[in-house]
Amino acid sequence: MLSATRRGLVDGLRVAVGDAGYDHDVAPSDVELEAFDDEEKGEFSSAVSFAIGAAAGENPMDVAHTIADAHRDYGLPEGVARVTVESGHINYHLDAAAMARLTLGEIDADGSSYGARDRADPDRIVADVSSPNIAKPLHVGHLRNTILSDALMNILEERGHDVTRDNHLGDWGTQFGNLLHEYVEYGDETAFEDDPIAHLLELYQQFERRDGVLEDVAEFGALTDEFEDAVAAERAYHTDDGKAWFARLEDGDAEAVDLWEGFREASIERFEAIYAELGVDFDLWLGESFYAREGWNDVVIEKALENDVAMRGPDGSVFIPIYGDDEDAGDPDRADVDPSLDRAREMLDEAGSVEEADFDAFYIVKSDGSTVYGTRDLATIEYRTREFDADQSVYVVASEQNRYFQQLFVAARKMGYTDVHLEHIDYGMISLPEGSMSTRGGQIVTVREVLDAARERARAIVHEKGRNVDEDGVDAIARKIALATVKYGMVGANRGKDITFDIDEAVSLEGDTGPYVQYATTRAYSILDSAASVPAVDDVDPAAFNDTDYDLIYHLGRYPLVLDRCEERYDAAPLAHYLLELAHVFNSFYHKNRVLDSESAAAERLVLTDATAQVFENGLGLLGIETLAEM
Ligand code: ARG
Repeated sequence: MLSATRRGLVDGLRVAVGDAGYDHDVAPSDVELEAFDDEEKGEFSSAVSFAIGAAAGENPMDVAHTIADAHRDYGLPEGVARVTVESGHINYHLDAAAMARLTLGEIDADGSSYGARDRADPDRIVADVSSPNIAKPLHVGHLRNTILSDALMNILEERGHDVTRDNHLGDWGTQFGNLLHEYVEYGDETAFEDDPIAHLLELYQQFERRDGVLEDVAEFGALTDEFEDAVAAERAYHTDDGKAWFARLEDGDAEAVDLWEGFREASIERFEAIYAELGVDFDLWLGESFYAREGWNDVVIEKALENDVAMRGPDGSVFIPIYGDDEDAGDPDRADVDPSLDRAREMLDEAGSVEEADFDAFYIVKSDGSTVYGTRDLATIEYRTREFDADQSVYVVASEQNRYFQQLFVAARKMGYTDVHLEHIDYGMISLPEGSMSTRGGQIVTVREVLDAARERARAIVHEKGRNVDEDGVDAIARKIALATVKYGMVGANRGKDITFDIDEAVSLEGDTGPYVQYATTRAYSILDSAASVPAVDDVDPAAFNDTDYDLIYHLGRYPLVLDRCEERYDAAPLAHYLLELAHVFNSFYHKNRVLDSESAAAERLVLTDATAQVFENGLGLLGIETLAEM
């Protein structure tokens, strides 16, 4: 009801502003939701009078009064009792009984689709989700991505969009040339069969350690000439052979492809087991290799050269010159912001090298002829616009890659991909109480470890509660609690925030956690269970509601507005926060009303409990968290 009221208010405000003789484009954000029964502000308020007053040179107070009058003349939307003016704000006060009737009616009628939206013209969204690199274990960083993107895509779907989830695997690039080389040189087939990812990780780390030594030598110099020679030999072997292997892979050489396919399949098999445990799914697993192997890289390289977007460097590389820092960069209407190819050539001549030149080079072919990450991302955009007719191509990727995506989007606009909305949905880093992680240095916490630990704690708690269930029952409950713990921990912080994942904190049933919300839901279920039947919403008499009831109803009504916010921000945190708040409100409703033993108004309270259980189910469902009949 609140979201319909808000829409009605936005429309009404638009008319009232016009009627009052002002010229102002009213946006949905001009009407804010306030707390329930706020004497001063009402349930909704608008500060539009300040913007209008500033533009018209009038006192906002007067503007607010004029608009409020026009509002009254036009008629207020259903459920709004009166409009007042206070400190220049226009305030809307709801008729509480109408709010109760409308909200409960809506939840009852919509059921599991309460909060969902139908769209006449949905956006076709293709999203990069999860997208780990193969040959390495999934760690907590991937966990944050996988959980967040799953929740976010659930929300976008619920809001009526047409979403395709693509697990854009990192399965192509020079690093796999290095890995192939390392495997052929030092690999062990039995160790690989045994635990492929552990073995490949070991080889990777060994490779990186040697690389680290080489870097140190490059920086500080070697102690003896002999050592210098050894290092030079090692470097040549190291980089050139890795490169050679990647070149073979890109050329489709059978031995290289066979080995690489083995790495890839073993990785996917391990990833899939974890994804199944997390309960997440993908529509596509295209991965970077797809674009390389199916010729899409060549398509974009050719296109970039043909359309004079990219140029060849003196070393044979191909790149798109950009000024990635200007926010108008790549905008076809602001071509002056970016260097033209002619200008870039001049700059290159002046500077002597690409590195020294006064532009950024977005590489699509390296001097050795191999493609890079960026090539495959441009190819992905080409494919998504061509094959999917995507309206949006969005990327859930850590904020580490902010600068890269900024440059990619500039390059993409220059390439002419201007009809598709590109969005980097970045999220903060995740660290552990012990410090940050590094796959390279071997300092990581894997998803496996997190899941096992969470399950262990959850099991202990279920045992402690002494539930009368057998071990299988304990296991099933513990599994759901553990997932709630982990998932809530991953989406509970605003997406931009760095988080420290502390498993001890996350698994408690008391704090701000997923299990706390699950627990409130279980409580609602058991109230409903103990009742013979839940009365029909139409039979409810709002006269029986007290302030605590109204507060709960108001929060139930907020749910669709919370989803609006999630959609606007491409974030699931507002939903997570909301559910926690709802759990608190529901708990005080339960305690204050002594729901179980109050004879009076029992019918009304049951209807509220039923509606609350529905909203918990819908909201937790979007976060991928299951509810429990018993905890
Ligand atoms: N595989 C990459 C990584 O682990 C993330 C890929 C993100 N998606 C993209 N289209 N670049 O860093």
